[in-house]
Amino acid sequence: MPADLARAVRADTGSGGDARPGVMTPALYRVVGRRAETDDVTTLALAPVVGGPMAFRSGQFNMLTAFGIGEAAISVSSTPHEDGPLRHTVRAVGSVTRALCNTPIGDVIGVRGPFGTDWGVGDTDSLAPVDASPSGDAPVTGGDFVVVAGGIGLAPLRGAVDELVARRARGGGRVFVVVGARAPSQVIFHDDLEAWARAGAHVAVTVDISEPGWSGRVGLVTSVLGEAGFDPGDATVLVCGPEIMMRFTARTLIDDGVDPNRIRVSLERNMECGVAWCGHCQLGPFLLCRDGPIVPYAGIVAHLLTQRER
Ligand SMILES: Cc1cc2nc3c(=O)[nH]c(=O)nc-3n(C[C@H](O)[C@H](O)[C@H](O)COP(=O)(O)OP(=O)(O)OC[C@H]3O[C@@H](n4cnc5c(N)ncnc54)[C@H](O)[C@@H]3O)c2cc1C
Ligand code: FES
Repeated sequence: MPADLARAVRADTGSGGDARPGVMTPALYRVVGRRAETDDVTTLALAPVVGGPMAFRSGQFNMLTAFGIGEAAISVSSTPHEDGPLRHTVRAVGSVTRALCNTPIGDVIGVRGPFGTDWGVGDTDSLAPVDASPSGDAPVTGGDFVVVAGGIGLAPLRGAVDELVARRARGGGRVFVVVGARAPSQVIFHDDLEAWARAGAHVAVTVDISEPGWSGRVGLVTSVLGEAGFDPGDATVLVCGPEIMMRFTARTLIDDGVDPNRIRVSLERNMECGVAWCGHCQLGPFLLCRDGPIVPYAGIVAHLLTQRER
């Protein structure tokens, strides 16, 4: 175990330092519901074995433990302040995520968190602690809100869209949701997409490859942005999906006149401790478990992501 991580574990187990429960020791949560979103994506509904509901902000993540197998960073896909279980939506890509997806109702998993920055759209949210944020940005509160999601990237955005739609009902700005997926069968959260549209959000879904029975759009999310109808000069955009999709989306938005400081992206790197101790999630000067995962697509972040293309 690396020295930093050993220090973190000692701190968590009461030998000094930050001994908040849930920082390094997972709390036990029981699986109380499961829903297959696609052939390899499952939403788990979790209830704490002991204690009350977890307080979190939309966009934050937890470290989930499949006992005996390992831990993985997974974003919360439920809505802050909403009654009901804590939700996480998991794609089975390896041993931990496969075990999480296969956990039966009634079994227990571990949950550490919540960690990281949020989308900055809730009433009490901030993009990041001021001295930890890559830009020091304040939450943005006015104008149009545009949410662009690729595939399972809609999961970390679900709570934010719920909050934006609720804010719109109270007289907040317009809400645009643009979702891209590889194929119609890979689109997640159909019920939510319909509910958001019924509540007045402008929802557009596009797929890379059509399937029998699909009569919707075919094409990349970037092809939908120009005709979505938002005001680029007064838009805040939240983007989550594969990194290449986020880069092309951000560039298209900037070309269309969106301020890069008002584009937020969610960056994923391998996470171990989740609390800025081990250094596994480093990107340039940032530790993404603390300074991210959600960062403004401006300045050094845009530069670092562009460098990865070369
Ligand atoms: C902040 C954050 C939030 C995340 N939120 C979610 C979420 O809501 N739902 C979800 O399904 N996944 C999410 N992930 C990704 C998830 O953590 C990884 O898929 C998981 O760690 C893979 O673990 P594994 O043991 O199952 O697979 P491994 O055996 O570790 O990896 C299997 C394959 O997945 C790739 N992989 C591993 N980690 C990542 C990653 N972070 N991004 C892309 N590819 C990866 C590996 O290169 C390998 O090809 C998130 C990651 C981060 C950092
Ligand atoms: S995961 Fe350990 S420093 Fe970020």
